[in-house]
Amino acid sequence: RQSVDSPLYPLLEAAAEFYRQALKSHPARKAAVDYLKGRGLSGTIARDFALGFAPPGWDNLLKHLSGDALQQKAMIEAGLLIENAETGKRYDRFRDRVVFPIRDSRGRVIAFGGRVLGDDKPKYLNSPETPVFHKGQELYGLYEARKSNRDLDEIIVVEGYMDVIALTQQGLRNAVATLGTATSEEHLKRLFRLVPSVLFCFDGDAAGRKAAWRALEATLPNLQDGRRARFLFLPEGEDPDSLVRAEGSDAFRARLEQQAQPLADYFFEQLGREADPRSLEGKAHLATLAAPLIEKIPGANLRALMRQRLGEITGLSGEALSRPHAPGAAIT
Ligand code: UTP
Ligand code: MN
Ligand code: MN
Ligand code: MN
Ligand code: MN
Repeated sequence: RQSVDSPLYPLLEAAAEFYRQALKSHPARKAAVDYLKGRGLSGTIARDFALGFAPPGWDNLLKHLSGDALQQKAMIEAGLLIENAETGKRYDRFRDRVVFPIRDSRGRVIAFGGRVLGDDKPKYLNSPETPVFHKGQELYGLYEARKSNRDLDEIIVVEGYMDVIALTQQGLRNAVATLGTATSEEHLKRLFRLVPSVLFCFDGDAAGRKAAWRALEATLPNLQDGRRARFLFLPEGEDPDSLVRAEGSDAFRARLEQQAQPLADYFFEQLGREADPRSLEGKAHLATLAAPLIEKIPGANLRALMRQRLGEITGLSGEALSRPHAPGAAIT
């Protein structure tokens, strides 16, 4: 891990301050303010998440933090500037975007996400991997959630910046987002150090459903007895931001209470879709898919219960199910 005194930290903090100020006072700020208001954000929530604005133009930040060649090199290393490989020309990475500062668990700014104000592509631009930013480990909003409550008992994992912010504004102050990457074992390890319960709530589309299964796979090796994970699937076309704004926080909370599916239920339901347990071939296929996943669970009780359930579904004995699957081994 990067040492505490990396020069990139103060640089990133200065950039965050520049973007924040620009949202308050830059002549071109109106488009950004209108955009955020149009998405239902209050001034308070914008302040809580320290949202900013990267003004239009190629060198606003470059000029503001300018300094010497050494400073510019550090800005490149921090992901703030891009250097054209051929011409050597340097320019701001974030331009004409709403900017979301990403903090580590200690509250230090380590990266940014930037959203276009309209429909341009890419919709979101994120900092690259840098010595202080490792996408696969960080969770947007975790610092802010912990700041508002040190004693969380559940964390909701969503896909996007706007999902975290909308939920928080509606009083669901325990949401975090992965940063345009799949949920990793590393993410789960970190979350389960803080809370015994994780709830996944991804977008109601094919990508969201795929993300949920990958999250399940990343969760299994972290499932000690006493921990749990749940999955809430949203109506097609909705994400947590759109839904919580449409139906309000009470209805959304009720949804969480009533519809969130325990991991084991989702697990068997999903595998049952892939391998139809009404035929013997389907049962065999299901056992082949399920058994190696169940073996990843470190919690001995949950592992035993999942094996038992698989046994009930397939009719296979526990002994048959826990035999290692080694296709080549039988051919001797
Ligand atoms: P979505 O496309 O679901 O974003 O991607 P969203 O937050 O719902 O977008 P809007 O603002 O409401 O329209 C979810 C997350 O995936 C990452 C971002 O972190 C985003 O929040 N992403 C998405 C990217 O990194 N790049 C992209 O071009 C799109
Ligand atoms: Mn590192
Ligand atoms: Mn999406
Ligand atoms: Mn979305
Ligand atoms: Mn959205």
